[in-house]
Amino acid sequence: MTTLNVNVKGLEKFYQVGESKYHILNELDFEVNAGEIVSVEGASGVGKSTLLNILGAMDGFDSGVVEVCGVSLKSLSEREKENFRAEKISFIFQQHLLLPDFTALENVMMPLLIAKLSSKEAKLRATEILAKVGLGERLHSFPSQLSGGESARVGVARALVGRKQLILADEPTGNLDRNNSRHLMDLIRDLQREFQFSLILVTHDMELASLAHRRNRIVSGKLTNVLS
Ligand SMILES: Nc1ncnc2c1ncn2[C@@H]1O[C@H](COP(=O)(O)OP(=O)(O)OP(=O)(O)O)[C@@H](O)[C@H]1O
Ligand SMILES: [Mg+2]
Repeated sequence: MTTLNVNVKGLEKFYQVGESKYHILNELDFEVNAGEIVSVEGASGVGKSTLLNILGAMDGFDSGVVEVCGVSLKSLSEREKENFRAEKISFIFQQHLLLPDFTALENVMMPLLIAKLSSKEAKLRATEILAKVGLGERLHSFPSQLSGGESARVGVARALVGRKQLILADEPTGNLDRNNSRHLMDLIRDLQREFQFSLILVTHDMELASLAHRRNRIVSGKLTNVLS
């Protein structure tokens, strides 16, 4: 039997702004198998980031079933959400959100140190993954000393170093030019083949979406298949 890393049924999400209530996700269903890359596409404002944030326990929801890596996200305390995020998932963002006062190596070690690995082990693993993303010569550079493409690759290394089951990526190539974007895509594809994590790719970019084994689009608050 294949493992479902994401099992979402009948997800409802509203945002209240002043007097107005917006129905963002409407009876949305979503399944992602272990080792699968799926895209979530759709126009600006349809709720792609909202869905990703719900799956990452960064945002709540109004009703429905949301199970991620075997954990039901419905009634978790803040502490349980933190543990869930630390153990099961990683994010890759458009803004890579590297810590400016720490080197590339230290940025990538950070999630491992938070997960209580020894600094020796963390350093070993972070060095290894930075070499894989082509930054073996840039370990001691600070974020301000890295190009946009290099920073993006540090962000990918940081997301993958913990070997999580599920990676949530929101427009990971959004800030990059075509060359850097292709380079990052190849890298994500190769690393996924090697580590076999599940990957949810939120993107507007058709080229990036073509990495997905299955493509989806949010339309009127529901997820629909994109026939590619
Ligand atoms: N915290 C919030 N409070 C109120 N409304 C919000 C909040 N966050 C998002 N929204 C609204 O919910 C809708 C979905 O937003 P979301 O960020 O998920 O869109 P998106 O599909 O990721 O768009 P983009 O492609 O531009 O990133 C938008 O109309 C947005 O204005
Ligand atoms: Mg978004």
